[in-house]
Amino acid sequence: MRVLSGIQPTGRVHLGNYLGAIRGWVEDQYVNESFFTLVDLHAITVEQEPRELFSATLELFATLIGAGLDPNICTIFAQSQVNEHAALAWLLECTATFGELARMTQFKDKGHGSQNVRAGLFTYPVLMAADILLYKAERVPVGEDQKQHLELTRDIAIRFNRLYGQVFTVPTPAIPKVAARVMDLQNPSKKMSKSSSTTLGLIYISDGADEIKRKISKAVTDTDNKVAYDPIGKPGISNLLEIFAAISGRAPDSIAEDYASYGALKSDLTQLIVATLEPISKRTKDLLDDRGELGRIMAAGSGKAREIAADTLDSAKAAMGFVTATSTFK
Ligand code: AMP
Ligand code: TRP
Repeated sequence: MRVLSGIQPTGRVHLGNYLGAIRGWVEDQYVNESFFTLVDLHAITVEQEPRELFSATLELFATLIGAGLDPNICTIFAQSQVNEHAALAWLLECTATFGELARMTQFKDKGHGSQNVRAGLFTYPVLMAADILLYKAERVPVGEDQKQHLELTRDIAIRFNRLYGQVFTVPTPAIPKVAARVMDLQNPSKKMSKSSSTTLGLIYISDGADEIKRKISKAVTDTDNKVAYDPIGKPGISNLLEIFAAISGRAPDSIAEDYASYGALKSDLTQLIVATLEPISKRTKDLLDDRGELGRIMAAGSGKAREIAADTLDSAKAAMGFVTATSTFK
């Protein structure tokens, strides 16, 4: 099966990104023909400082490889290096309607109804549809918040095929069940997220052992010191149990039975997180120290992606009636 997913190169990669998305991608590459894209064109739908976008892109690319994506097995590339994404997005924008895009809840949330939001934020989901449809992906692993964008992608594909002939594969979303949501360590009612107000609430992939220990020991819990899995009554401790569960593959309530105090749970969880993240950050750092090699891997990835993307774009253009380089004249 063909799989494609994307992640924005903004901010630093955290444990939620790893457990909720990247780790699943690493498994996917062994069973499916997989494409992973750093969606830098999506990042500029809100303001980005150019130097920060540049370094966040390199850092994310290195992190994905450090986390276990193998560029010899799957295709990893920066979206902006494959021009076909922007080109197909335009064709699709001319098939999608204003009403469809105005219904997207993420736009409504991020745009706050302001007249000053960038037009690209409004058309963002169509670019996402182009990312997916160019590679004829059948399965798209995404978080719950992206489900509506996937629905739109399906609608766009179905409509295009009906109007212009069969060009696109209609994709299905794949929402991970385990650790679909890692919560903020300081505010367990909120998702661990780049936009968190305090860095104490997030564990970054690049955090060292001391940092991880400090953040887990300061993680918010309640005061009764009874380890039990109860996401409503005990959200803080339940989040720690869920992280433990996601890493160890055990069930959170069975982990709870092993611990008589928060301290012991926190100490074992710290060790587990350190053991998971240490090798990843070591490989990431090594790659970041070898920019030449990183650049070569990126170029090879976009080269592989472009071959497929160019072919699909050409079919879509021909189907719509454009005279293309491969048109036959009768
Ligand atoms: P974002 O950081 O919001 O751009 O998300 C990038 C990817 O990581 C998406 O697939 C998200 O669903 C996933 N992700 C982000 N935050 C979390 C979280 N706290 N728990 C689980 N998955 C997450
Ligand atoms: N919109 C997605 C997010 O914010 C990122 C994304 C862009 C994506 N293009 C994609 C995800 C294609 C899956 C497939 O998380």
